[in-house]
Amino acid sequence: MMSQPAEAVRRSASIVATGAYLPSRVMTNADLEKIIDTSDEWILTRTGIRERRIADEGELTSDMGARAAEQALQQSGIDPKSIDLIIVATCTPDTVFPSTACHIQHKIGATRAAAFDLQAACSGFLYALVTAEQFVAAGAYQTVLVIGAEKLSSIINWQDRNTCVLFGDGAGAVILQHRPGARGLLAYDLGADGAQTEILSLPAGGCRMPITHQVLDERLHFLQMSGKEVYRYAVSAMNRSAENCLEKAGCKPEDLRWIVPHQANFRIIEAVAQRLNVSMEHFIINLDRYGNTSSACLPIALHETSMAGNLKQGDLILMVAFGGGLTWASTVLEW
Ligand code: COA
Repeated sequence: MMSQPAEAVRRSASIVATGAYLPSRVMTNADLEKIIDTSDEWILTRTGIRERRIADEGELTSDMGARAAEQALQQSGIDPKSIDLIIVATCTPDTVFPSTACHIQHKIGATRAAAFDLQAACSGFLYALVTAEQFVAAGAYQTVLVIGAEKLSSIINWQDRNTCVLFGDGAGAVILQHRPGARGLLAYDLGADGAQTEILSLPAGGCRMPITHQVLDERLHFLQMSGKEVYRYAVSAMNRSAENCLEKAGCKPEDLRWIVPHQANFRIIEAVAQRLNVSMEHFIINLDRYGNTSSACLPIALHETSMAGNLKQGDLILMVAFGGGLTWASTVLEW
């Protein structure tokens, strides 16, 4: 017979620690000018990106995820052995299996933790955060580590100027626990449109198109994107998702202290700000320094804001993401 959770009432789940890791190697727009037909001016005006971080060849997604997780553990004084569950959002896992979460579990010594990967492309971190919240809210687990980690440089076609200028590597982590008296995660909105799988994808490497010499010659083992279509979809989906989530949380845009948007393109963020009618001062932006790090964007931005002392208890924060699938996700939480 299954045992019932100790508490029938849903418990709140709060982010109690954050961490981030960025590889030390900086690739500027000027560096890209040397390898493809592009310019700093084009990249900056079309995207807002000035530079991005690129991991060393031997530096894996799990290495970056583990470093981010260790920082969150150190910050909070939480023992790795008290982690109940690790969820890693990534679309660039070390290996198809075992999961990157298992690699990280071993690297950080979280020997008691269950571990799995979750894949929702750039929306992955919020999908993972919401999944983690279910376990804490049900009383099933006390401490859940949620990581967004990506080595996108490993799936980028460095001959394709339409995509290679946009992405970077990095990792971010948060630890979720019930904190008595705190409201934590207030609402979420998750969505997907599987009719749009083709406009942002990595065609080869799965069972649909195993890696062959022909696949390698045609460079189908690299990310492909129809930038304009993704752009248009992103603006409306992020906006709709943010509004749904605010409604579920019973908040208005003017109640928000911070909005942490997916860091794909400054113009997308500006369009979302305009539609929500929120000043850009409330938006956390770091894409100028890191580009789009997919599932790592949001936890990195959250960590940097926290470290700068800009997250105060009670602050209402909207996070909103968009990615391949297509997928989108929003959360409203009280810090
Ligand atoms: N450097 C110089 N020129 C480039 C270039 C680059 N890196 N990349 C594309 N171009 C060229 C194109 O070839 C095109 O030339 P053409 O008019 O001669 O054909 C021209 O610039 C305009 O391209 P276009 O696609 O219209 O630019 P855009 O304003 O739509 O911006 C993106 C392109 C990719 C920056 C933009 O569409 C975007 O950000 N899309 C969403 C991306 C995204 O969010 N992805 C991740 C989602 S998780």
